[in-house]
Amino acid sequence: MHTTVAIVGAGPAGLLLARLLHARGVDCVVLESRDRGHVERRQRAGMLEQGTVDALRDCGAGARMDREGLVHDGIELRFDGRSHRVDFPALTGGRRVMIYAQTELVKDLIALQLDSGPPLLFEAPVTGVTGVDGGRPTVHYQRNGEPATLTCDYVVGCDGYHGVTRTALPAGARHTFERGHPYSWFAILADVAPSCDELVYAHSPRGFALHSMRSPRVSRLYFQVPNGTDPAAWSDAEIWAELAARLETIGDWRLRTGPITARAVLPMRSSVTEPMRHGRLFLAGDAAHIVPPTGAKGLNLAVADVVELAGAFDRLFADGSPESLDAYSDTRLRAVWRAEHFSALMTSTLHLAPDQDPFTTRLQLAQLHRLADSPHAAAELAANYAG
Ligand code: APR
Ligand code: PHB
Repeated sequence: MHTTVAIVGAGPAGLLLARLLHARGVDCVVLESRDRGHVERRQRAGMLEQGTVDALRDCGAGARMDREGLVHDGIELRFDGRSHRVDFPALTGGRRVMIYAQTELVKDLIALQLDSGPPLLFEAPVTGVTGVDGGRPTVHYQRNGEPATLTCDYVVGCDGYHGVTRTALPAGARHTFERGHPYSWFAILADVAPSCDELVYAHSPRGFALHSMRSPRVSRLYFQVPNGTDPAAWSDAEIWAELAARLETIGDWRLRTGPITARAVLPMRSSVTEPMRHGRLFLAGDAAHIVPPTGAKGLNLAVADVVELAGAFDRLFADGSPESLDAYSDTRLRAVWRAEHFSALMTSTLHLAPDQDPFTTRLQLAQLHRLADSPHAAAELAANYAG
């Protein structure tokens, strides 16, 4: 097979890039290692910033999101006996966010692609990429257990943190900046109506907790746990008790409980690979960068990467201008590092590190009081969240 742009990975980055290129008449093929059911069931992010919402609407993939998504005008910070609402539209000139599960966004993009193209091959794991320094890269993959190849003009690695395309950048030509975090998130999905209308980020003496949701009937919650925590070691009752201990700190507000339908312990990682391009190979989304989930940036960064890349390919193929493509890596890395800084700051402000000293805790509370008391500080927070 031959195509113009070979896309590795059918997560949000790969699927949206395929949609955007297809709409511009650019031939592309998506190769995905897992089967459709696995890709569509993976519980991931849920907060879409304005740019992501606009991108999905513009490419015709926003109909169900607009029907079923929850538009939110803010978040609540809960700390030190206080509750403070950050009003996004008031602080950003009208920007807001949408709660719409990544699983649903992926389902919508897959359905569109299977219905009207471009080609999307499931169970087609890519084993390597060669020739990225030349004029005709080759993507090597498995099809029904047999080796196969896809030649192309460009390759875009959208295969996430555990993919293979990042290693197709020569070791001497790439540098990955990494940082671990001394805690993880215990994540649950529960068949119970959300206990409040918007997201609640809670700093508590027992550790961080986040109240989110997926629909008027499904809640999504997270709480900080030590790395290596076994999700099976906690009973439902113990999970709800811990979440209540961290969230029920304001007056008579109470956490609704219900059947827990999914649970996982998610380790936290910060990682950036530079550059995001080598020759005819480009990286986008988690293949290039990982942020801790505190700032809800992962999905939105992936979308912004491929919107930039699709526009750059369009300018190259439509009027022969390579400038945007040549600037892709620098342009995106500036935004990626901004998001890394915001995510790291929110993570260190809201989580209690193991053996954290009281002085550090007072610094965290000082930062949170500042966000609640200063419109300038709140505006910076809102601009980072709402995108
Ligand atoms: N060959 C083909 N596909 C692969 C390979 C491979 N060798 N390795 C990984 N993949 C696929 C994975 O199965 C997955 O479907 O690439 C896809 C990568 O998707 P994501 O990990 O979702 O990454 P991305 O599309 O960049 O989206 C980022 O997903 O992980 C979350 O928090 C992250 O919300 C953010 C979003
Ligand atoms: C989610 O709903 O999954 C979510 C929302 C906000 C975050 C992280 C996760 O910061």
